Amino acid sequence: MSEKWTPDSWRSKPIVQVPDYPDPHALSDVEATLATFPPLVFAGEARKLKAHLADVALGNGFLLQGGDCAESFAEHQADNIRDFFRAFLQMAVILTYAAKSPVVKIGRIAGQFAKPRSAPTESINGKELPSYRGDIINGIDFDEANRLPDPKRQEMAYRQSAATLNLLRAFAQGGFANLEHVHQWMLGFVADSPQGHRYAALADQISETLGFMRAIGIDSETTPALSQTEFFTSHEALLLGYEQALTRVDSTSGDWYATSGHMIWIGDRTRQPDHAHVEFCRGVKNPIGLKCGPSLDPDELVRLINILNPDNEAGRMTLIARFGCNKVGDHLPALIRAVEREGQHVVWSCDPMHGNTIKAASGFKTRPFDMILKEVESFFAVHEAEGTHPGGIHIEMTGKNVTECTGGARAISDDELSDRYHTHCDPRLNADQAMELAFLVAELLKKERSTRGQNIAASA
Ligand code: PEP
Ligand code: CO
Repeated sequence: MSEKWTPDSWRSKPIVQVPDYPDPHALSDVEATLATFPPLVFAGEARKLKAHLADVALGNGFLLQGGDCAESFAEHQADNIRDFFRAFLQMAVILTYAAKSPVVKIGRIAGQFAKPRSAPTESINGKELPSYRGDIINGIDFDEANRLPDPKRQEMAYRQSAATLNLLRAFAQGGFANLEHVHQWMLGFVADSPQGHRYAALADQISETLGFMRAIGIDSETTPALSQTEFFTSHEALLLGYEQALTRVDSTSGDWYATSGHMIWIGDRTRQPDHAHVEFCRGVKNPIGLKCGPSLDPDELVRLINILNPDNEAGRMTLIARFGCNKVGDHLPALIRAVEREGQHVVWSCDPMHGNTIKAASGFKTRPFDMILKEVESFFAVHEAEGTHPGGIHIEMTGKNVTECTGGARAISDDELSDRYHTHCDPRLNADQAMELAFLVAELLKKERSTRGQNIAASA
């Protein structure tokens, strides 16, 4: 498998999940234009992220990855981005403070536009049209004009990603993420919920600790780690023409990087070892995620890792397990054992969303919070039994007060799903549910830490 890689070598491989563009010339014109645009992220940032993920792979730290299932052109308002970032920071601070674990923060944002679909077409009342594949490809409204793939949308997605990233960089480094503002990240609608009270209590403790540190001369002026945070972006590398156009040689290392986001991942439907998506990803040096669903065989996983990470570099591979809450116990142990047997360094992350999607009686696609939780708990239990590190979670979430996943402390019911169901694709946790999940994961992490401590003491 050491055929020469080039940014376009994927084009000669079999490929699935590609849109049918009516005008190939218009498509190649757009790709040529994108290739002249500035990179969205820098190679040095992707390398830094890889170094953080290497720590997680070696058992230190935890990866928090989350955001929309699909970003949309319609929801590009600054307050959407800000509310997402607040909810995300709240989760991160819960995990960092309650579990005393460094948290690597990666958003599904500033590029998460292209969606794989289970069927190429959709029929409503006897009318058949191409499926919606994400705003970077076509429009969600069910009419011919919207559903026709339009390459110009790639330029819009690029510009939206650039603007989103610009704001996120400002939030992360310009003072918004200052730990002294830990109380102000609370979103209005969460403040009077059980999670809100729990968060406020934790924020009080952090403020007290900061007060003590200030008294001994450590504050956000002297210690940038208190006033800034590192935040990275990621998306599924599905639309390979777009990805290729943004693939550039890093002048310091001479290596190729995808500059569309810091981390890219391969979806569960496009991870065939000899297909185009794996071919593209093997050649860029970014951290790579690989979704692992129930159909993935352990030997195939080992083979995929060998293709994608031949030098066994820690931090390069994040395996994102998404089995469904009743299947984790049947599938995950064999994958972990195969990877351990081969000595492959990986981050194990749990996506408790995509294996737990059901259709509610009301007709809405939803995910019961209990099932999400159960998948995370089973993921931790399997890792404990195997002696490996449960390294992260990968979730679909928003800072908005949506009603898309049922359950949680506010017990959203099937009947309430229609109240505020806004997603462009899969149902997301709202800020309240995201915080509740973070508290539960913090407990599991604390337990993992103490079990690990006991094991180290016992073997000393
Ligand atoms: C997703 O992450 O939105 C997705 C489509 O996931 P998967 O490839 O795991 O189905
Ligand atoms: Co999704």
